[in-house]
Amino acid sequence: MIIAVDGPAASGKGTIAKALGRHYGLPVLDTGLLYRAVGLAVLKTGGDPDHEADALGACTFKDAVLADPALRSEAVGSLASRVSIHQSVRQALVKRQRDFATQPGGAILDGRDIATVIAPDADAKIFVTASVHVRAQRRYDDALSHGGNPDMDSLIADIQARDTRDMSRDHAPLRMADGADLLDTSNLTIDAAVQQAIALVDAQLERR
Ligand code: DC
Repeated sequence: MIIAVDGPAASGKGTIAKALGRHYGLPVLDTGLLYRAVGLAVLKTGGDPDHEADALGACTFKDAVLADPALRSEAVGSLASRVSIHQSVRQALVKRQRDFATQPGGAILDGRDIATVIAPDADAKIFVTASVHVRAQRRYDDALSHGGNPDMDSLIADIQARDTRDMSRDHAPLRMADGADLLDTSNLTIDAAVQQAIALVDAQLERR
């Protein structure tokens, strides 16, 4: 069984994917981490994320890198979004994702193109979204609780820039797949969003 969870930055898709993993007893891959690892490697080697050859050269990172807390920063998220527009970079990361998706027993993957490109035959597909303001507020609260000094206007601008880049790129742009169910978490608590996600997945599995 494969469950695909897609959506824009800070929509809550990662939290929902992890909760689905616990509920169904399936392993979860946050595919954004792969693009973040490429972004961080480009940064460390002094490459240009907008230059396809530099970004492709950074795709040979080791799995151990995926646990680096530096991957979680907003700056690396933005670099990830920039390297992810290159088709050769996306191609270089496909096998890892498909191998994870097709492991015996099943898997959950969250990202931007799971239901459209990586696993179009997934058994259940959820597209998680939330308003830009709510997503920026979540980032704000998160930064504050980690001792940061966030600026709401720049968080909104960052999220809008990332949405625009992720949705308008030529290769595997962010969009809701055919057969996916929309889950808008703008006015939902985490618990309520998780309960709705489980109900949507159960309903899709029953229809199969
Ligand atoms: O989900 P995230 O914020 O960690 O993703 C970071 C960037 O990586 C995102 O802005 C675009 C890219 N990405 C992608 O192109 N395809 C995916 N399946 C996951 C992430």
